[in-house]
Amino acid sequence: MTDFDGLAAIVTGGASGIGRATAELLAARGARVAALDLNPDQVADPVVGIRCDVTDDASVRAAVAEAAERFGRLDIVINNAGIGAQGDVAANDDAQWAQVLDVNVIGMARVSRAALPHLRQSPAAAIVNTCSIAAWAGLPQRALYSASKGAVYGLTLAMAADHVREGIRVNAVAPGTVDTPWVGRLLDAAADPAAERAALQARQPSGRLVTADEVAHAVCYLASPLSGSTAGTVLAVDGGMYGLRLRPPS
Ligand SMILES: NC(=O)c1ccc[n+]([C@@H]2O[C@H](COP(=O)([O-])OP(=O)(O)OC[C@H]3O[C@@H](n4cnc5c(N)ncnc54)[C@H](O)[C@@H]3O)[C@@H](O)[C@H]2O)c1
Repeated sequence: MTDFDGLAAIVTGGASGIGRATAELLAARGARVAALDLNPDQVADPVVGIRCDVTDDASVRAAVAEAAERFGRLDIVINNAGIGAQGDVAANDDAQWAQVLDVNVIGMARVSRAALPHLRQSPAAAIVNTCSIAAWAGLPQRALYSASKGAVYGLTLAMAADHVREGIRVNAVAPGTVDTPWVGRLLDAAADPAAERAALQARQPSGRLVTADEVAHAVCYLASPLSGSTAGTVLAVDGGMYGLRLRPPS
């Protein structure tokens, strides 16, 4: 018997990186899991891949309905799909601002509102949003991305307040730099990938990047029925990046 036995979950962006690790861990801990992603073909058993574009309301509604019908219920929503952006506040045009906010923020609203009627039927309903250290700390050249994750932070608290009394817990994780395909693409694009990786590692007090599995464990902690009194929490999974101020190595 494991904590997610009998429960059903959807994970947006579940075909790669943090979402994939989370979907696989939820399944290993007993949940039936659907990964809602642009690339459902990259999802492997026992996780079910369902095509979904979180910027398209009809696509979201169809995917959530398909998962709920397939499992006969829906208890857990992991709002994880996200995209990045680089540059200062002047670097991105209006179309890029609209696109990133559409995926990273409005996408969470679309998925959550489609899932809420199902979650209200669940005895163990939970939503976990993927926020970021970028919501809390000023990172250079990440203006648009940070704005989107700051919005996720506020949205998480507002959703938690709205739904706690109907038994739906809402929380978020705030990862530091995680070693996922996304970060791999960023490193590949750098002039000196090894130096860029070393700089990202050095920025973390732990001296290394966070792993997708470590974020998945934090997400599962927040989503678990064993965490029934945890609501409105944004849990850092960042190697100490937010809270710690170490002296430089001597
Ligand atoms: N990697 C990091 O360092 C890091 C740090 C903090 C927060 N995050 C957040 O974690 C989440 C996942 O990041 P990752 O590093 O695992 O990225 P990733 O690129 O490895 O995976 C993202 C997944 O989201 C999917 N996706 C993108 N747009 C979508 C859309 N419109 N509809 C449905 N699916 C879509 C992609 O197909 C992909 O499978 C994102 O919200 C990101 O902002 C990542």
